[in-house]
Amino acid sequence: MSEVLTIALSKGRIFKETMPLLAHAGIVPKDDPETSRKLILDTNHDDVKLVIIRATDVPTYVQYGAADIGVAGKDVLLEHGGEGLYEPLDLEIAKCKLMTAGPVGVPEPEGRLRIATKFVNCARRYYAEQGKQVEVIKLYGSMELAPLVGLADRIIDVVDTGNTLKANGLEPLEHIADISSRLVVNKASMKMKHAKVKALIDHIAEAVKNK
Ligand code: ATP
Ligand code: PRP
Repeated sequence: MSEVLTIALSKGRIFKETMPLLAHAGIVPKDDPETSRKLILDTNHDDVKLVIIRATDVPTYVQYGAADIGVAGKDVLLEHGGEGLYEPLDLEIAKCKLMTAGPVGVPEPEGRLRIATKFVNCARRYYAEQGKQVEVIKLYGSMELAPLVGLADRIIDVVDTGNTLKANGLEPLEHIADISSRLVVNKASMKMKHAKVKALIDHIAEAVKNK
């Protein structure tokens, strides 16, 4: 069998929104990760496999070459730092914004702000650029709860409709970055498997353009 191309994806919105793009490149998985417990999915091509992992782990798998290619949100890539990765294509899916948010109508308290987020590197970078002293508290989810229970003054999270913030008495404040999902490629795979990787990028780029 010829060299295998491994593509890392997370379940949920990234998998769903990436499937039509892969289909345009003629790649169709044999299992659905929402119903299968398999973490490695075969496709209709013997030499293309999908690995199903947590969204935040995608850059790590691709950085170390455990996957040749991956799809990751720009938020996750900004947090990871992008070491060992090429980012050749904006897939224009899973669009949202990385923002600060806080309780509606509550002015910024004096002194050192407490920021709850899973994006700790982004948070430190952002407030350093603002010249603000902050304490960053790492959370793994449900950031919206933190200001409600006095754990933090502000959160940094992705916002789409704003419904989650609103439902919790919070409002979006500062815009940090526009987010969409990107195709990422391991730097060594780009060289060693160039023909296959390039063909896949080209097919997916065409699918994005025709959407
Ligand atoms: P993990 O499982 O590692 O905690 P996650 O739960 O954030 O990650 P998803 O919810 O599937 O994973 O989000 C994947 C990506 O989709 C995010 O990195 C972000 O770029 C984007 N995203 C997250 N929430 C939204 C949203 N409400 N609307 C649009 N895009 C979103
Ligand atoms: C994400 C994010 C916010 C929410 C923002 O959560 O962490 O909680 O989406 O989206 P909104 O502005 O449209 O409310 P997550 O991916 O866990 O949940 P989801 O599946 O409901 O989007």
